[in-house]
Amino acid sequence: MSGYIDLHCHPLPGIDDGCRTAEEGALVLAGLAKLGFRVVVATPHVRCPTWDNRPETVAPARQALESAMAALVAQGEAMPEFFTAAEHLFDDVSWERLTTNAAMMLPGGRAALVELPYDRLPMKLELRIWRLLKTHRITAVVAHPERCSALTSSEEALEQVIAAGAKLQLDVMSLTGAYGSTAREAAKRWVAKGHYTLAATDAHKPSDVAKVGEAIEALRSLGGDAAVAKLFVEGPSSLVAV
Ligand SMILES: [Fe+2]
Repeated sequence: MSGYIDLHCHPLPGIDDGCRTAEEGALVLAGLAKLGFRVVVATPHVRCPTWDNRPETVAPARQALESAMAALVAQGEAMPEFFTAAEHLFDDVSWERLTTNAAMMLPGGRAALVELPYDRLPMKLELRIWRLLKTHRITAVVAHPERCSALTSSEEALEQVIAAGAKLQLDVMSLTGAYGSTAREAAKRWVAKGHYTLAATDAHKPSDVAKVGEAIEALRSLGGDAAVAKLFVEGPSSLVAV
């Protein structure tokens, strides 16, 4: 199966905790192409003040990555279509950017990738998700909810986030235990319940690619080809224009 779309990945070099060099980033993209990814969106962290990424920090990293991609293409490697956006920590800094057209949106401009703190939920979370959708026409795509203890410990909190209009994105490597057993069990449970709209790789380095391949097979054994197609093709396609 191919034609997968990855809306969460860290191949841009040197601007967050993802790839350190452009060559590493290009290896991640070539590896994902081999796994069947048609489209990959790089989503560097926006987590201030540690990683204050903006279009002006992304542009030079993208340029360096594209040169390294071109070098691999010249050696016969295939590459996915490549876009850039960001993974915004859902705090006041990101809220300001999201509501003033200053966020780095997913392709098409209708959805934004956000991550929640791992140990607690932000104040007014549901209200902000709902306002983002109704007032600003932006769908919040919540990265790896199964890695947030405030959500794994409260199914009710998770359902409120969904009811407010957020779409949940599975970090596929959670299924193989890469983030511990609590995240793995929550991910399995929520795949079975149909809580996820999409899945993503969240790949940070070349050695993650093989783990992503194993994780996609774990998803296939849980829900068959239909689950893989739903979470890596149909779900992401419904949120972005690619
Ligand atoms: Fe990420």
